[in-house]
Amino acid sequence: MDSIRIQGGVALQGKVRIHGSKNAALPILAATLLVRDNSFIRNCPRIADVYAMINLLKGLGCCVRWLETGIVVDSTHVQKGEMCREAVTGMRSSLCLLGALLGRCGELTMEYPGGCVIGKRPIDLHLSALRKMGVEFTESGGRLRAVASRLHGACIRLPFPSVGATENIILAAVAAEGDTILEGAALEPEILTLCRYLQSCGAFIEGAGSGRLIVHGGRRLHGSEFAIPADRIVAGTYLFGCMGTGGNVLLECAPEEEMAAVLEVARKMGGHVCCSEEGIYVQAPERPKPVSISTEPYPGFPTDLQSVVLAAEVRGCGCTSIKETIFENRFRIVEDLEKMGACIERNDCCSVTVKGVERLHGACLEARELRGGAALVIAGLMAEGETIVKGCPYIYRGYENICRDFRELGARVTSV
Ligand code: UD1
Repeated sequence: MDSIRIQGGVALQGKVRIHGSKNAALPILAATLLVRDNSFIRNCPRIADVYAMINLLKGLGCCVRWLETGIVVDSTHVQKGEMCREAVTGMRSSLCLLGALLGRCGELTMEYPGGCVIGKRPIDLHLSALRKMGVEFTESGGRLRAVASRLHGACIRLPFPSVGATENIILAAVAAEGDTILEGAALEPEILTLCRYLQSCGAFIEGAGSGRLIVHGGRRLHGSEFAIPADRIVAGTYLFGCMGTGGNVLLECAPEEEMAAVLEVARKMGGHVCCSEEGIYVQAPERPKPVSISTEPYPGFPTDLQSVVLAAEVRGCGCTSIKETIFENRFRIVEDLEKMGACIERNDCCSVTVKGVERLHGACLEARELRGGAALVIAGLMAEGETIVKGCPYIYRGYENICRDFRELGARVTSV
């Protein structure tokens, strides 16, 4: 099932339920290592990255069981094992095992983490912060070894609000001796969710949700039951799918309060957006109005939705300008969209102008990363005729069942 076949030209109509957030679930699964007990994580998405994280946890000695409503992780016994090479190199979020394992065991050896090929993605901010907390790093044969004979609190200021570095610092700080003061923390909602989970296990964290966190480390954590919130990026993907196809969609359970910048863009594109207890309702105009967006750390417009807006605006009724400021390699879909008749001008390495065209035609495309892959599926929905998107395992890393979801919205989509 490596490809998706789409018969395009159908406006999305109906309702779809938004599953649990990938970027919230992954650090929380890593955090269960700090709890020498059973954790019950509800609404955990059944996606490839979560399965990879579970394999890593099992390899470290955790017992993991799926139930209908979530997942139980028993981390009573954890050994300082080797982490499965493929799972680490294939997934950037395996990096949050760094903070969690240092907190639990004080040492680890791992490959450099992989993930989507959307830029250089260095880990210098993670390493320099953890060094301040007493961690020594050495490298041999492409593997990273980290040892902390005494993990201690520190005053850390991040020069850029890295999501992953903030998560790693919190995870290590919860287990460290003494207090950690973190300035310049990322504000992404997934950080607040991680803090709430750790607090539900007994951690003492002040300032959760702000850029200045104080973590009082060293408390013994206990198991808890915690629900993963709905995925704001999946909700945004379907929202812009609706905008691109001129549809009419209810995004059930979509996390409205985390999507302010996204909803503002959808409104500027001409969408009628209403929020209720049920979720977010969007009604799109026939063709999106042009917009000008620049990706920013939260609460700005998320980089993870840049490609889906780009895809939607390919059939827009004007010139849209898009600037990518977070990752340098996030315009890899442009060539594929051009095969469908899109008109896109590259201004420089990090900005493009999309000149909307009236019609797109189906083509054979290749997903090269997660969100770009989803954007190509949306372009297929907008095009006349048949589109095949190959390389779909990238998409399955972050969407439980994108074909089923689009079918529920009336699209003619199958995985082949
Ligand atoms: C997380 C998200 C990803 C999202 C991104 C930005 C997860 C699993 N992934 O990724 O979906 O696109 O946030 O919202 O939550 N950087 C450095 N040095 C470092 C760390 C980061 O230079 O040590 C740079 C990166 O190269 C990038 C920028 O900082 O240019 C943002 O990275 P970061 O916020 O760390 O993103 P991730 O945690 O990898």
